[in-house]
Amino acid sequence: MTRRRQIYEGKAKILYEGPEPGTIIQYFKDDATAFNNQKKGTINGKGVLNNRISEHIYTRLGHIGIPHHFIRRLNMREQLVRQVEIVPIEVIIRNVAAGTLAKRLGLEEGTPLPRALVEYCYKDDALGDPLVGEDHIECFGWASNEEMRDITEMAFRINDFMCGLFSAINIRLVDFKLEFGRVWENEYPRLLLADEISPDGCRLWDMESDEKLDKDRFRRDLGGEVEAYQEVARRFGLLPEGAENEVLDLEQHRKKRGK
Ligand code: C5P
Repeated sequence: MTRRRQIYEGKAKILYEGPEPGTIIQYFKDDATAFNNQKKGTINGKGVLNNRISEHIYTRLGHIGIPHHFIRRLNMREQLVRQVEIVPIEVIIRNVAAGTLAKRLGLEEGTPLPRALVEYCYKDDALGDPLVGEDHIECFGWASNEEMRDITEMAFRINDFMCGLFSAINIRLVDFKLEFGRVWENEYPRLLLADEISPDGCRLWDMESDEKLDKDRFRRDLGGEVEAYQEVARRFGLLPEGAENEVLDLEQHRKKRGK
């Protein structure tokens, strides 16, 4: 394998310099973290599944005209994406009360919200990604008001589409996190959806049983993390029936052959 320059290593991904200028390779790791890195672990095969699930969702979002960074999946753990300048804001969309919203406002988890709600957090691990308002974002120059208007509009559109995408596979999209980045075209910034969309950054509940099919299984020590991620991939038709273990078997087989 040719040596590539590593640009950044995050909690769940490594970024390498891509083959052409303006491209990046995203490598999906099996590492899982929660509560701002206080809990660490490994979910075997998570990277392979998230790579596939994220590819699927990005491709579908592309079909409805959402501009995004995804170019193509390269192999089981890597995808080629456009290099962007990340907007340091995590955009959270919520349809149902859960997680920090439920805690902060004393709401019972599972309460449907009157409408989709957007929240913004400043991306800073040392500060624990604090919740911020639009005025903070503009005041500290993290993004302009115009950019935030476009980002928010896109985020709600993505939510509408993803609610349908998941409801078709009997999953309730409770909440999720998005990130956006800028590319510069003739000195003008253009916003693209970036990062990944996978059960790591979404709350996904089975419509009938409310069973959690996302990273809350890891965060809350519920067990069955791999099976939950596999179930999401299986329902999307990304894992052939009965081939649950093949994803990893295939990866190991390829590794042995040195590919
Ligand atoms: O923890 P909280 O309830 O604020 O999370 C809301 C949603 O955003 C969840 O789906 C969670 O997975 C996602 N999230 C994330 N990365 C963060 C914070 C939240 O993916 N740093």
